[in-house]
Amino acid sequence: MNAILTSMAEGVVVMDGQAQIIMANKAAENIFVVKEGVLKGRRFCGCPDYEQISAKVEEVLKNGKEAFIETTIKPHSQIFQVHVAPIKGANGEIEGAVAVFHDVTDARNFDQMRSEFVSNVSHELRTPLTSIKGFVETLLDGAMENSVLCRRFLTIIDSETFRLSRLIEDLLTLSSIESKEQAVDTHPVCMPRYVSNVMNVLGPQISEKDLQVEYIYDNALPYVHADEDLLNQVLINLLDNAIKYTPSGGKITIRSQERDNRVLTTITDTGMGIPRESLPRVFERFYRVDKARSRDLGGTGLGLAIVKHIVESHGGEVMVDSEVGKGSTFGFSFIAL
Ligand SMILES: Nc1ncnc2c1ncn2[C@@H]1O[C@H](COP(=O)(O)OP(=O)(O)OP(=O)(O)O)[C@@H](O)[C@H]1O
Ligand SMILES: [Mg+2]
Repeated sequence: MNAILTSMAEGVVVMDGQAQIIMANKAAENIFVVKEGVLKGRRFCGCPDYEQISAKVEEVLKNGKEAFIETTIKPHSQIFQVHVAPIKGANGEIEGAVAVFHDVTDARNFDQMRSEFVSNVSHELRTPLTSIKGFVETLLDGAMENSVLCRRFLTIIDSETFRLSRLIEDLLTLSSIESKEQAVDTHPVCMPRYVSNVMNVLGPQISEKDLQVEYIYDNALPYVHADEDLLNQVLINLLDNAIKYTPSGGKITIRSQERDNRVLTTITDTGMGIPRESLPRVFERFYRVDKARSRDLGGTGLGLAIVKHIVESHGGEVMVDSEVGKGSTFGFSFIAL
């Protein structure tokens, strides 16, 4: 019996008819963060933190029917589903109660994340749709007879449609990486080749903003294991951000170096930077430091979430450092061959 109770992940607390604890297993002691044997002889009632539990225990001891509650337990603010059942003697009299504590913190956090995600997606989809609908109605109301207005509104509709399709594409990319449906198909890859290639692809944006872009890398840089398409996406997203969030005439420095069996690539810009309190959140889906500005620039706020997922699906890590007004450095490491 002892071996079973000790090896259980759930906390188990047994109480007598007066709600005094007569036994608690190791998991229960961990939940309440007490030393071995400390719970014995104590009771939940009288302690303001455990009011809900103690009320349930009283109820079960009184009416002999099992009961469930969900409650948050300090000090780790874990959420527990507590099942309290009566212990009955041979003649059916209530001799005590047993409480089983099941940790549902992860499940509850996941529920919350999922509903936040759904509401974010709906909001992001609704914004361009509302604007498209508005302009179509104005056109139908007569603006289409005026060719200048007509062209202007259609251009806006065109760009909003583009945003919508980008958003959906990004969401699909995220979900396919997440569900591992798109197995990462890795090959030995030479990082500098890909960086140079992406610098060429984004060449027009770079020259349009008159930015100076420099790439510095170790000559003896080892190859890395990477999926070429996904690596391209990482580089495009990071360089695209550096370009977007750096004012004209600024400088972007890309570096690739070997570090502890990894190839670390960093992209440093002299742009607007990111406030310290936002740094831990920039890799979250839909997180944008300045929502209005990012949206004006056509952003969906999914770029960095995609970067993080891709890099982690390769066994790598992402990093960010930044100072407002000075610039930002984003980096990622891939395992060296
Ligand atoms: N180099 C950077 N300098 C300053 N801020 C940045 C930089 N890179 C990202 N950010 C901030 O982090 C936010 C999230 O970036 P992310 O790439 O995920 O989204 P986005 O650029 O807004 O949209 P998308 O990449 O989908 O076009 C941006 O909105 C911006 O506020
Ligand atoms: Mg971006």
